[in-house]
Amino acid sequence: MVSQMRTQVGIIGAGPAGLLLARLLKIQGIDSVILEQRDRAYVESRIRAGVLEQGTATQLRDAGVAERLDREGLVHEGVEIAAGERHFRIDFQELTGKTVVVYGQTEVCKDLIAARLAGDGPIVWNAADVAVHDIDGNRPRLTYRCDGQDHDLVCDFVAGCDGFHGVSRQSMPADLLRTFERVYPFGWLGILADVPPCSHELIYARHERGFALASMRSPTRSRYYIQCSLDERLEAWPDARIWEELQRRLGRAAAARMVTGPSIEKSIAPLRSFVSTPMQSGRLFLAGDASHIVPPTGAKGLNLAMSDVHYLQRALVAWYKTGAADLLERYSETALARVWKAERFSWWMTGLLHRLHDEASFEAQMQIAELDYIASSRAAQTALAENYVGLPY
Ligand code: APR
Ligand code: PHB
Repeated sequence: MVSQMRTQVGIIGAGPAGLLLARLLKIQGIDSVILEQRDRAYVESRIRAGVLEQGTATQLRDAGVAERLDREGLVHEGVEIAAGERHFRIDFQELTGKTVVVYGQTEVCKDLIAARLAGDGPIVWNAADVAVHDIDGNRPRLTYRCDGQDHDLVCDFVAGCDGFHGVSRQSMPADLLRTFERVYPFGWLGILADVPPCSHELIYARHERGFALASMRSPTRSRYYIQCSLDERLEAWPDARIWEELQRRLGRAAAARMVTGPSIEKSIAPLRSFVSTPMQSGRLFLAGDASHIVPPTGAKGLNLAMSDVHYLQRALVAWYKTGAADLLERYSETALARVWKAERFSWWMTGLLHRLHDEASFEAQMQIAELDYIASSRAAQTALAENYVGLPY
């Protein structure tokens, strides 16, 4: 027997994009059902990035889920850039009047899930074999399996918020899609540890041995990354080797302040730039990683998912409240204009700071010259700062 259900917006994926969309719609009286292939414990323990643009924080406040963010989030007014032993600071507050908030994506998801489950509507965990049907008509459907039963969910619209490996993008007509991609020949080895951070701000470091980043989750929890080759195995990186490499790459001052300790998480992630266009077909709309990926260097992944959701909820609300379809029709165009600029910034910052060529190469000298230029030019620092804190919606 197939169980039949009806909702206004069927959302695939309970990542930050799907969860925020559901919450913002609910505030406007629009119902949704979220289908998530994993279970709650898995989603709430996934370690992801942790820098929120001011616009992202504002959206979470508007969604009424920022109580813990405002209590525990660390407001950062700048970042440090290191090149060997040379350091300089980009002062966001002074250059743009804006700041960012350091607060883990994992925590954002926990807060959104708690709000959802406090009465907003269902999240179907462990939804298997989700498939999208009839996006060209005005009654699209989602089918899935759960608890040994087949389900059929009829919707007005489908929001594909199911990340890079989801089904939504693949449900768009193949002849419509154009994809653009850059795969980088290196990865990031990340380590999470319950030790105080070595700096009160993030440090992005270019070093002849490769990029390094000092980040944090709280005053007692640090997150660090080092550039590594793609065929690197985690077993080859005991904690002591990672700490040693971080101390080398982040420079003497940071090394002297670095507190080391046992890792509570360690992983290697590849870096990719990817955009799939358009972000809509018929009544299917994509948001977040389902449609685009950025390398983590500019901390843009979560923030881009949030700006997509802003445009999508605004368009859906306009349709439900007034019947106007123009914002929905222009969703892809509107969202992509911001996506491409964030892609550019993430690609640029990745190229500026990673080891791609021998230190004796012309390209390496160009990186050093560009860092030197940024260090001495307020205009260059402003360009970096306004992108890092987030371009306007
Ligand atoms: N059916 C149902 N759910 C699915 C399916 C599927 N076929 N495929 C994937 N999902 C779920 C995943 O389990 C995940 O919970 O969709 C969710 C997608 O969430 P994210 O990958 O976090 O993507 P998004 O919400 O767009 O957020 C983007 O996440 O990957 C980071 O760096 C990225 O910070 C960015 C943010
Ligand atoms: C993180 O804290 O995980 C982090 C911070 C900044 C980045 C990427 C990741 O650019």
